[in-house]
Amino acid sequence: MNPTTTSVPGLLLPIADLPPSFKWGVATSSYQIEGAAAEDGRTPSIWDTFCRVPGAVTGGDNGDVACDHYHRMPQDVALIKSLGVDTYRFSVAWPRVQPGGRGPANRAGLAFYDRLTDELLAAGVDPWVTLYHWDLPQELEDAGGWPHRDTAYRFADYAMLVFDKLSDRVDNWTTLNEPWCSAWLGYYVGVHAPGRRDFGDAIAAVHHLLLGHGLATERMRAAATREMKFGITLNMGTADPATDTPADREAARRADGMGLRIYLDPLRKGEYPADMVADLAARGTAFPVREGDLEVIAAPFDVLGVNYYFGQDFSGTDEQGNTHEADGTPVVRPILPAGPRTAMNWPITPERFTDLLVRLHRDYPGLPMVITENGAAFDDSADDDGNVADEGRTAYLAEHIAAVAAARERGADVRGYFAWSLMDNFEWAEGYAKRFGIVHVDYATQARTPKRSALWYRDMISRVRGN
Ligand code: FCB
Repeated sequence: MNPTTTSVPGLLLPIADLPPSFKWGVATSSYQIEGAAAEDGRTPSIWDTFCRVPGAVTGGDNGDVACDHYHRMPQDVALIKSLGVDTYRFSVAWPRVQPGGRGPANRAGLAFYDRLTDELLAAGVDPWVTLYHWDLPQELEDAGGWPHRDTAYRFADYAMLVFDKLSDRVDNWTTLNEPWCSAWLGYYVGVHAPGRRDFGDAIAAVHHLLLGHGLATERMRAAATREMKFGITLNMGTADPATDTPADREAARRADGMGLRIYLDPLRKGEYPADMVADLAARGTAFPVREGDLEVIAAPFDVLGVNYYFGQDFSGTDEQGNTHEADGTPVVRPILPAGPRTAMNWPITPERFTDLLVRLHRDYPGLPMVITENGAAFDDSADDDGNVADEGRTAYLAEHIAAVAAARERGADVRGYFAWSLMDNFEWAEGYAKRFGIVHVDYATQARTPKRSALWYRDMISRVRGN
């Protein structure tokens, strides 16, 4: 069957099996769309600073204007409504709500999210709040950032400012988006803000991000006056050994440990995985755990947000056959599976999405999942009216939603799906060069035009609802 069709009768069969109660949404994040970087009291985040570092972001782009969503929010909500989704996942900009990362709320900044929440509810769209999608106030980075323990407490205080304002209307709360990216890309690889390159800092950041999640979850739950859903979103893939050699199996173990288990084991089992603790000790470092931290991190939560883009294989040798890097660390070399790629050069691996969800259900049972991000960048070409016939993206979405349906048939408790992203936006280190939207944005005019994938998504949702 041709998954690229936009006609409803062409719905992939497993998608058609999804229940009417399945929740559909679109997702964005604050720094990627809002713009208005210096308005109404907002102070710089680590991304505002990082974008000024020469060479850090493709094209020297930054989020000063982005999609100008801060000024166009009512029209954007109308656009969301037109897609027929149940829910919209957005993030709150910490430096807008609490400039500098400490002290009282900035009323003008909070008021924006207050209006957004009201606008969504009036449109019949459920707001889904992510508290942290990477825009740490610069002052907190200057004080040490996520490797510094105090940042976890600052995060919980900030979370309560948002919670106090919106919890009379918002039911779904995600603490962190993709702590792996914050810690690994931000503090070790250095390709994301704040651009540090220190392995020990990255490990400390992991622990303090998880601690911040736990502290915020405990406080929000204690303050909740009705049933609410709290959760965290992790980005995950699959890490398979490239071959069956011991070196490749070892590399896959390490990759899976660093990418997935050092997050989910403490969150769900209250302990860091012993093999990873041993690996870190061999590298002369450790998670900076203090007494009671793991109980806080393992505080119960209600929904695991899963962000999935692709899966990959790992080899324990480099291209010359060496098993260790020059600095003595073991080689963990990602190998992208053969086959088609997106504009990010990411492989298209929907079958591994099913594998991941089934594995999560098996290894971390009893936790409902929602796909909080899934989508693809392609080099779209728009006609003069902004129309984009994005067959590649439509196929990607259809195949991955079908993969979710297949995982459900195998027992995985997945209850919803958010397409990444509502509209083209600032794609971090790639700037505006990579387009993930199902709605096209003409950055010169800020015109929004639904792409063919958006129309397919809308029609598919309405068909599944009728089941
Ligand atoms: C995820 C991020 C999201 C977006 C997509 C493509 O890692 O959470 O903001 O950039 O990747």
